[in-house]
Amino acid sequence: MRSYESVYRQSIEAPEEFWREAARGVDWDVEPERAHDGGRWFPGGRLNTCHNAVDRHVAAGRGDQDALIYDSPVTGSARRYTYRELLDLVSRTAGMLRGLGVGAGDTVVIYMPMVPEAVVAMLACARLGAVHSVVFGGFAASELAVRIDHARPKVVLSASCGIEPSRLVEYKPLLDAALERASHRPAHCVILQREQHPADLTEGRDLDWESAVRDAEPAGCVSVAATDPLYILYTSGTTGAPKGVVRDNGGHAVALHWSMANVYGAAPGEVYWAASDVGWVVGHSYIVYAPLLAGCTTVLYEGKPVGTPDPGAFWRVVSTYGVRTLFTAPTAFRAIKKEDPSGSFAKKWDLSSLRYLFLAGERLDPDTYHWASALLGIPVIDHWWQTETGWPMAANCVGIEELPVKPGSPTKPVPGWDMRILDDDGNECPPGVEGAVTVRLPLPPGCLPTLYRDDDRFTEAYLSRYPGHYLTGDGGRIDEDGYLFVMGRIDDVINVAGHRLSTGAIEEVLADHPDVAESAVIGVTDELKGQLPVGLVVLKAGVERDPADVERELTALVRERIGPVAAFRRAVVVSRLPKTRSGKILRGTMRDIAAGTPYRVPSTIEDPAALTEITDALKG
Ligand code: COA
Ligand code: AMP
Repeated sequence: MRSYESVYRQSIEAPEEFWREAARGVDWDVEPERAHDGGRWFPGGRLNTCHNAVDRHVAAGRGDQDALIYDSPVTGSARRYTYRELLDLVSRTAGMLRGLGVGAGDTVVIYMPMVPEAVVAMLACARLGAVHSVVFGGFAASELAVRIDHARPKVVLSASCGIEPSRLVEYKPLLDAALERASHRPAHCVILQREQHPADLTEGRDLDWESAVRDAEPAGCVSVAATDPLYILYTSGTTGAPKGVVRDNGGHAVALHWSMANVYGAAPGEVYWAASDVGWVVGHSYIVYAPLLAGCTTVLYEGKPVGTPDPGAFWRVVSTYGVRTLFTAPTAFRAIKKEDPSGSFAKKWDLSSLRYLFLAGERLDPDTYHWASALLGIPVIDHWWQTETGWPMAANCVGIEELPVKPGSPTKPVPGWDMRILDDDGNECPPGVEGAVTVRLPLPPGCLPTLYRDDDRFTEAYLSRYPGHYLTGDGGRIDEDGYLFVMGRIDDVINVAGHRLSTGAIEEVLADHPDVAESAVIGVTDELKGQLPVGLVVLKAGVERDPADVERELTALVRERIGPVAAFRRAVVVSRLPKTRSGKILRGTMRDIAAGTPYRVPSTIEDPAALTEITDALKG
């Protein structure tokens, strides 16, 4: 049997051989000259990601196997698509896009709910060598506009509506509002009409999805360079402007295919379910690409862990489809636990198919770990990664060797990731000592090669702080047994229900309120969602307002500008923000106060009483 240690060592000491071997797992039109040339993965190689995810499985005899199972408690419907059916749909959707002038290198924005057409759309872009950029449905029109202006899509693909348990989300008016704000004009929008709420189409610009696809000639796969972009996924940085994480074709296909067998222990033909959203990286990698690259059956679930209709929703899906691997965020389990602490709903279903539960997206607190382990009686595996990396950096790689678990730790670095904990001066921290979690270059395949149309920001955000290392933005430590413990972000990114948000972006919105002089947004610990944003606002001199009114207005403003996903509901009026004598807001100290971790009052503080006021405000 292979040992984790030997596989890991080989990946770090001989990455060229290691990844060349892994590259055999995908079909190449032209074999790469080598695995890595110091900057890019698989230079010289040519392939098509859609071919690898769909066509090749049909050719290999998996045509009648389910590729995609759509299960939608919010619409009361479910549907299975075999690999052959998926191939037909994807080819015709690609043909539709080609008919609208979309070709290799063009961008396409996808703003859709969790419907099969969203998956088909992503694969159709990949088929043409076009670059998709999926925007999560919980973002507001202005966030969509920012992404449209940056990605400059030839075509936007959307739907008439999404369905949240408590309300119908009209996507089309959001798209119209975004296009009104944006300066870029896509040639066309193709709208999927859902029966729950069909939308009015704008003549000349909008096309009806169903008829456009029905009339289209199927398109074949376009061979692209391994280094060509497959997609852009915008994620929150420390400022309001989102970062366009770029994913290449070759490195991505190789890494994701490798991860399915080695990290997740998943084999072709198995049912694999990532209960996330296609708008997030987990959805890109483990709803769409990885399970299909590996010939598994993937589940697309349009619902929530609770309330659709009850906390047994996940168990119904697992039992109905024979899910072998379930992947979700800890917050989903906290939600289930809150409504069904005794796990009585799980007992109503046959969960014998379930072999592993993988959790990621935020820190897995030991309580949730123990509860899920006791409930399911299977390995519960915390693993750590981020939008930028595209696949896990640390995990218990059950496909290689299942290691003993230490609750609170996502176990050890995944092969390929040369993880180092560095102190402020760039020296490696001894075991057990906390520092910045970094990865020594080169990054393994699948990780972002750059930020879209912003190479400088890529270098500045990730590579400049510690030369020769990638800065993850997380703090943590590695213990004497080599286990990683991730303690949380060391920058101004917060994590709300597994969704990544920028406090800077929320502050920019608060600053637009006419009565606000300045503000700081911090993430406070929340039992269900992990963190929730709280705005500390200072009003302009002379403004006398009822703080409750200010809070209501700011809540509405953030919802309108960023979207419901921000879950912004608390804004506290304070007389001043804690600052250094040179005027820098003491964010780190406020973060510590919010997290309840011990902090030192900085010697450079201008007015120590400001900290007391913040502490009291956060308690309220
Ligand atoms: N389109 C439109 N609105 C959306 C949306 C979408 N795709 N997804 C979420 N929203 C809205 C919700 O309706 C909610 O709006 P509200 O303020 O009107 O209630 C808001 O955004 C916040 O949504 P969410 O974070 O999902 O919170 P919730 O309170 O509805 O549900 C959980 C809480 C824990 C059940 C939910 O967050 C969950 O299932 N999390 C799983 C984690 C996950 O998928 N993480 C992704 C990375 S792995
Ligand atoms: P995102 O890019 O949205 O996937 O968010 C990535 C961030 O989520 C990471 O930088 C971490 O801060 C956090 N995160 C993800 N997975 C874990 C985990 N298993 N443990 C701790 N933090 C996590």
